[in-house]
Amino acid sequence: MNTPLDSIRNILPGHLKNRVDGLMEAADIFASMKSPSVMRAIAPSAVRGLLFSVGKRSDTTDMPAAHAAHFNWAYPHDHPEMHALYERAKRGQWNGSDLPWHTPVDPLNPDLPIAPLDLIDLNAATALGIRLDSKDQPRMVHSMSSWMLSQFLHGEQGALLAAAQVTESVSFFDGKLYGSTQVMDEGRHVEVFHRYLTEKLGKMYHINDNLFVIIDALMTDSRWDLKFLGMQIMVEGLALGAFGFLYQSTKEPLLKELLKYVIQDEARHVHYGVLALKEHINYGISKSERNEREDWAYEVALLMRNRFMAYEVYEEWFDGTSVSRDQWRQLIMNSPGMQRFRKTMFTRLVPNIREIGLLSDRIRPHYEKAGLGIYFSGQAAPEVSGEQMVQELDHEAA
Ligand SMILES: [Fe+2]
Ligand SMILES: [Fe+2]
Repeated sequence: MNTPLDSIRNILPGHLKNRVDGLMEAADIFASMKSPSVMRAIAPSAVRGLLFSVGKRSDTTDMPAAHAAHFNWAYPHDHPEMHALYERAKRGQWNGSDLPWHTPVDPLNPDLPIAPLDLIDLNAATALGIRLDSKDQPRMVHSMSSWMLSQFLHGEQGALLAAAQVTESVSFFDGKLYGSTQVMDEGRHVEVFHRYLTEKLGKMYHINDNLFVIIDALMTDSRWDLKFLGMQIMVEGLALGAFGFLYQSTKEPLLKELLKYVIQDEARHVHYGVLALKEHINYGISKSERNEREDWAYEVALLMRNRFMAYEVYEEWFDGTSVSRDQWRQLIMNSPGMQRFRKTMFTRLVPNIREIGLLSDRIRPHYEKAGLGIYFSGQAAPEVSGEQMVQELDHEAA
């Protein structure tokens, strides 16, 4: 049934109608949040990201940070597992310049696709009344894969700056030494993704508003464990799943090689996040603080699951046309490649949430309701190294 708001919406020109739809979705995100404390923590970032699209307005954004930089003048060896990760990270360093950049890449070459063609399904498009033909499909997949890699790049910049923050704020001295290697790793990831996008794909997208919200929320929160949870577990965990999806499905050899190296670094980063948080969450905070973190992780997971809809690609292709955001959203939801992408994103994340103690009986039913229960028993970061992860991905793809 049409509401009065729908009637007004329907007489607006296309681009205004889309803006209203975007704002209504933002309001819907707030309305669907269950925990008032999570809403309070995320609201300022959501206003900046969803209402004002701050990440898209200019080439630069300043985010105020107010955490304590923690020094220790005794330089203790206080965490053997973090020390072991530090040693492994030093041995695992690689140089992004040494990747085979001479490899010619044609993003429209059907024999060596960057990403699977079924990221956008032509039958689903037709069923939804969106006119796309077989010539549009590879161009659309070029857009979608450039969009995905652009979000990886922006996430990597978030990881670079957040890694610097958590290196300042972590209390373990072995964690600070380890953190220094992660800062280097993330710098290298920014370098290689940016180079691949600009030199090989020739296309780059703005940061997705939902990703902006999460990065803004964790950068500006003064609580060190929220930064760890947001970046090392949530963003890195989702990225690890997403990298795995593209590593398995791309046929382009340079991208595959690049992702293989990045995945091995990221596996260490998530492992570090689990080490830093496990004891703290189980023994270092009160029950209500633990509940708040549990709710925060769940809301962020949902924000990524439900809202990561490539609207930046929609705006490029369809803004101002008769194709609505809702039709586009359904196309993304119904395309098999995007369904696999969204599913794979959570394979690494949910087991780590369990491992650090944020998957209590209180929250499990919510994950189950959101269709994420199938990941409850997966392997957590300490149980699988980056090398094993790459081997498993190769094995599954064979
Ligand atoms: Fe990274
Ligand atoms: Fe990372």
